[in-house]
Amino acid sequence: MSSIPSSKGFDSTLALLRNPYGFIPDTCRDLDADLFETRILLQKTICMTGAAAAEVFYSEDGLVRAGSMPKRIQKTLLGEKGIQGLDGEAHRHRKRMFMSLMATERIEALENTTRDLLDRYARDWQAAEKVVLYDEVREILTRAACAWSGVPLPEAEVQTRTAQMTALFQHAGAVGWKHWGARLARHRAERWAAGIIEQVRDGSLQPGQESAAHVVAMWRDLDGEPLTPRVAAVELLNVLRPTVAVSVFIVQAAHALHRQPTWRQRLKDDERHLESFVQEVRRLYPFFPAVAARVKRDFEWRGYRFAEGRRVLLDLHGTNTDPRSWSAPDEFRPERFQEWDENPFDFIPQGGGDHLTNHRCPGEWIAIGLMKAFCGYFVSSIDYDVPDQELESGAGDVPPLPKTGFVMRGVKRRQ
Ligand code: HEM
Repeated sequence: MSSIPSSKGFDSTLALLRNPYGFIPDTCRDLDADLFETRILLQKTICMTGAAAAEVFYSEDGLVRAGSMPKRIQKTLLGEKGIQGLDGEAHRHRKRMFMSLMATERIEALENTTRDLLDRYARDWQAAEKVVLYDEVREILTRAACAWSGVPLPEAEVQTRTAQMTALFQHAGAVGWKHWGARLARHRAERWAAGIIEQVRDGSLQPGQESAAHVVAMWRDLDGEPLTPRVAAVELLNVLRPTVAVSVFIVQAAHALHRQPTWRQRLKDDERHLESFVQEVRRLYPFFPAVAARVKRDFEWRGYRFAEGRRVLLDLHGTNTDPRSWSAPDEFRPERFQEWDENPFDFIPQGGGDHLTNHRCPGEWIAIGLMKAFCGYFVSSIDYDVPDQELESGAGDVPPLPKTGFVMRGVKRRQ
């Protein structure tokens, strides 16, 4: 058995923070390997990239999630005791709860609610001197996610809840005061969501049977017991927060529409291309750098030993742009998705493997559906200008967004 190649230096935390999307694939390329070992936050960690590595990462018996997430991510982005840290039958059972929310008609209902809100907002954009798209989309999606999930959202709370959801996904990996702000947002958002769960349980709030608020409040775990209010709050936020986070992909899609005028015209002529277009945005524009797991018990892969307890990071963006899976990987070519074979390991912006049995994101259809709804609206229902502005993101930003939040001017609704 050979030993896993090592990266330079004792600890790579800083290198990862400085170059969150490039650190793993660049190091692998330098070492001419799919994996290497280093320390992240002082812990020995195996970093991996590519479709073959993803297949091992999602193999059922090798790796577990319990104890794999750094505490700082649990205290902000994910919350504690939610689905992300479960394994085996407990995970599969809880996953059924999330998958039950994803029926095609339910996702269409979310798209329709969102499109109506977008049209309402676009009326106001016509009178605005400038529109900061990221701010507007986050607010639209907070309203849409709450309405769809059966969560009441009084007008006076729209901005607060939007800011809380944003802090959870935007400042989770941050250091310093932004991190502490995200912890506070988590605390407040969980208190709010736990209150909703309690109202559903005592009958003072009666959301639709298919809504997330109802399904989560009534869900029984494997032991037959309802989720504690705190865990139910974490799971309800596991629907609300990432739905608002789709705003990142939507701004990235607006950026792609701006940079790809030929595609803009093609989508206007034939909306059937929307799906390939948004898939290519999800492939090429990064969001989360990696997912984490731990080795359950010693195993061997390609002659390398994976020692029990070792943390493993799977690189998402590097896998999506791996030249072994994708030709001209850094070019924006949506047509590649017309021939893609739906391999569950080479295109993993929201995780890979199987939705029901692995930790793959149950919200992929929501992300794709909302991106299509916005892109369709941008090309067919409004005209707008994109003035000169800083469209690049800051080095090390997670997720990377234009520094301006993507400013639009002169918005006009077509009749
Ligand atoms: C899991 C990304 C939207 C709910 C994940 C994972 C990633 C991810 C990388 C982890 C996969 C893994 O651990 O192997 C994203 C991105 C989104 C998005 C980039 C769009 C911006 C959504 C939406 C929902 C959602 C819209 C729900 C409405 C979840 C849940 C999990 C998850 C509940 C945990 C699944 C499990 O542990 O089995 N997502 N997601 N996500 N996502 Fe998403």
